[in-house]
Amino acid sequence: MTFTLNWGILGCGGIAETFTKDLLLDPKSHRNVDVIHKVVATGSSSSVDKAKKFAETTGAKDAKHYGSYEELVKDENVDVIYVATPHSHHYANAMLALEAGKNVLCEKAFTVNAGQARKLVETARAKNLFLMEAQWTRYFPLSIELRRMISSGELGDIKQIFSDNGKSIEHIDRITNPNLAGGALLDLGVYSFLHIFQTVYHLDPEHTKPEVKAAILKDEKTGVDKFTTAILAWPGTTAIATCNYSLESDPKSDYSAGPCVRIVGTKAQVCIPSPPYRPTSFTVIPNGDGEVQKNDFPIEGGNGMWWEADEVAFCIRDGKKESEIMPLDESVVPGGARDVGCEAHGTLTSRWKANIPLSHRSGIRSNSYIAHYYTNRQRLWVTPIPQPNQ
Ligand SMILES: NC(=O)c1ccc[n+]([C@@H]2O[C@H](COP(=O)([O-])OP(=O)(O)OC[C@H]3O[C@@H](n4cnc5c(N)ncnc54)[C@H](OP(=O)(O)O)[C@@H]3O)[C@@H](O)[C@H]2O)c1
Repeated sequence: MTFTLNWGILGCGGIAETFTKDLLLDPKSHRNVDVIHKVVATGSSSSVDKAKKFAETTGAKDAKHYGSYEELVKDENVDVIYVATPHSHHYANAMLALEAGKNVLCEKAFTVNAGQARKLVETARAKNLFLMEAQWTRYFPLSIELRRMISSGELGDIKQIFSDNGKSIEHIDRITNPNLAGGALLDLGVYSFLHIFQTVYHLDPEHTKPEVKAAILKDEKTGVDKFTTAILAWPGTTAIATCNYSLESDPKSDYSAGPCVRIVGTKAQVCIPSPPYRPTSFTVIPNGDGEVQKNDFPIEGGNGMWWEADEVAFCIRDGKKESEIMPLDESVVPGGARDVGCEAHGTLTSRWKANIPLSHRSGIRSNSYIAHYYTNRQRLWVTPIPQPNQ
């Protein structure tokens, strides 16, 4: 029997548009599963008009439109809320939805620090709701095949991983704005970590936590991290995650730069070309004799975000409260690893640690200080956030 999942979209920005278009693709055009996604509501903190325009642009023609997130999460027809706001707001927005009794899919980075992640997980569990970080790459057939190869021992023991995500996006405000919890690590570093955690950590039955060290170069103007290198060590395996928001990992966007992720085992290594968030092929290179083999994993239909949406639908249909492919622990532990680096270097994440914002909407977009937060003209949060370099 076909299962229909009713979505509410919280925040009508760029990725929400891509995701919603993927949700509303004709299911028969690209996959064969018995779930249907409906977008029944869109919510914008800017205006109801923006929510309406967003619904028109994305083809969510039956959706109701709301001019606030508070109204959106109260919509009784919504089964699951997709949180697609800047990092600074994930905690408050996801908490708003959970407290309204809604299941939640929250964009990466899940939260600005591990403490916030733990609180969301506790709340979802206490309320018996589904919660997941939107690490869409984990559901790609490429990722599934890679995890299978590692589990089956085809690569031998994994000894080293090199994982890089560099993208020239410093013109985008939410990337560099400390008040929106910008910075390379929270934005791009999630994918550098993804390839490490979905293999070494995810496939380890003991879920051993890594030791972490990090080197960070701050953006002089804003104080957020611009170039970050994290070294993660497990017994028998080391990994290096690098990220930056000013230099491309693959400058020509044609894979000419070679792999951005290398997973090195005792029998073979796997090389994945950029972009690490949407990879479509990998090469398996055996140690010693044996043929080098290129494997293609084309994305047919949309942008490939529907795989994670389907996973949400399967879980909710089957009464699961978290995904086995993206367990909640795998949002909390990498969050803790990011905290280690940021604390040592005094960049944004640690600054956010002290002040968990309770507002659902910040008027701050590009200006450099936070004063008062209002939602429905009611002041919800007035704690100033310490500014970088203070
Ligand atoms: N999975 C992926 O491949 C992927 C790709 C890009 C981004 N992301 C993630 O998705 C999230 C959103 O990124 P985006 O590129 O979609 O951002 P964006 O285009 O800037 O949109 C963010 C939306 O959040 C809402 N918002 C609420 N408070 C805001 C504030 N103070 N300043 C700015 N926007 C505010 C706005 O929607 P309303 O005005 O409608 O409320 C805005 O349109 C981030 O966490 C990012 O890391 C994921």
